[in-house]
Amino acid sequence: MNRRKFITSAAMAVSAPLILSQIKLFGADAPSNKLNLALIGTWGRGEAHFDALKTQNVVALCDINEDHLAFGAKQFPRAKQYFDWRKLLDDHQKLGLDGVVICTADHHHAFVSNWALNRGLHVYCEKPLANTIEEARIVRANYLSKKDKLATQVGMQRHAFQNFNRLRELIRDKAIGELTAAYAWGNRQIRRPGYYPAAGAPPSNLHYDLWLGPAPYHPYNPGYFRGGSGANCLEWNMFWDFGNGQVGDMGSHTMDLLWNVVDAEHATSAEASGEAFNPEVSPVTMESHYDNPANDWRGPIKISWYQGGAMPKSPKSWLDLKKIDHGAMFKGSKGFVVADFNNRLIIPVGDNADMTYYKSPSKDELIPTVNGFQQEWFAACKTGQKTSCNFDYSGTMIEQMLLGLVAYRVGKKIEYDGANGVVTNSSEANTYLSRNYRAGYTLNG
Ligand SMILES: NC(=O)c1ccc[n+]([C@@H]2O[C@H](COP(=O)([O-])OP(=O)(O)OC[C@H]3O[C@@H](n4cnc5c(N)ncnc54)[C@H](O)[C@@H]3O)[C@@H](O)[C@H]2O)c1
Repeated sequence: MNRRKFITSAAMAVSAPLILSQIKLFGADAPSNKLNLALIGTWGRGEAHFDALKTQNVVALCDINEDHLAFGAKQFPRAKQYFDWRKLLDDHQKLGLDGVVICTADHHHAFVSNWALNRGLHVYCEKPLANTIEEARIVRANYLSKKDKLATQVGMQRHAFQNFNRLRELIRDKAIGELTAAYAWGNRQIRRPGYYPAAGAPPSNLHYDLWLGPAPYHPYNPGYFRGGSGANCLEWNMFWDFGNGQVGDMGSHTMDLLWNVVDAEHATSAEASGEAFNPEVSPVTMESHYDNPANDWRGPIKISWYQGGAMPKSPKSWLDLKKIDHGAMFKGSKGFVVADFNNRLIIPVGDNADMTYYKSPSKDELIPTVNGFQQEWFAACKTGQKTSCNFDYSGTMIEQMLLGLVAYRVGKKIEYDGANGVVTNSSEANTYLSRNYRAGYTLNG
């Protein structure tokens, strides 16, 4: 099989349907072949899922804010209502649940995902999948142990943009020769000095203790809840106990642009630098660099992530990379590709970069487009097709980015044993791979 055929057929293979006898495993035997789903987080990002969810049966809703729960219930009046996702999952058999869609604050993501997978449920989880290396590894391992029965997807929906696969084809077809390095960056900058001070009792519609969930206690302050629908995450995701700032925020989307191309497994090392470490708030300006080993189609590469104004060096003085707020760049032996989410620019470099070594694919050789990102997950739940941002792909990606934050915190280059999830040259770094949680919340429950 030639290389082009391999690229296309590998992409087809992951979407090939399973034989009929296997379909039952995937919940396709629900009435009228619709999935019975629960939406956890029924306002904000949850709202972005309403239309897609209406094509299935939404049998349960959960939100820690009673007003937001009522907002979701207007759309899905027959769904049973919960404030606590643990109670909802306790009832999964009674509800006849097939899967959950998780749109909560980040610090619940890995918990709800693990609890759902452990109860045999399909999971769609908003990004980021995890806040610590331990969370990323456990949720990925749980998925891998059930990947022939359960479908997962992380909400990195830009992955369905055509540009993602066009980039993959360009690099794999050697448009810039042998790939040597890949860079991604995001320029969002939101500064907060530290956790907010106590500001009275939470309003009666807000189950604040359930919002804190596994996170250490912090007093209520309305500052965590003052954002508009779909943007409230920008009010809490920079505080370490609730999120990881830009790594988990736009970083999940932008690193996906790179990760989809490079077919990387675990990094063997990470180093990072940036503004001074703040024990309460994740950094705005930071960059992290990784060594990723060779795979079956390329040699070893360097991968880098930049945020909050830190940027890779532009290959040409006339190209101002800073004009791309969220972008990626690939460096090869014969040039560069620079991209944002929707566009790409090839820059051949040097007299030998005449492009004669590159043959563009024909239409029927292109990697098939993801036809609807949530629909891809629905189909996977029913038929066993693989999703593009399953917890294997997305789990490895967020683990690498979180490793960068660990390196940033210890302030030196760390060596990583990805098979075992251990830093081999810093005992301090190993203490930052996991966190302690409040009673009542077991990560792998
Ligand atoms: N894929 C994307 O493009 C995209 C865009 C925006 C947000 N997000 C992600 O979606 C998630 C939610 O972001 P948001 O801005 O809507 O935040 P938000 O603070 O508005 O929370 C969303 C909803 O979840 C509820 N909620 C929070 N914690 C809960 C819990 N433990 N149990 C039940 N309900 C809970 C909130 O009350 C709210 O109704 C974040 O993880 C964010 O990263 C993804």
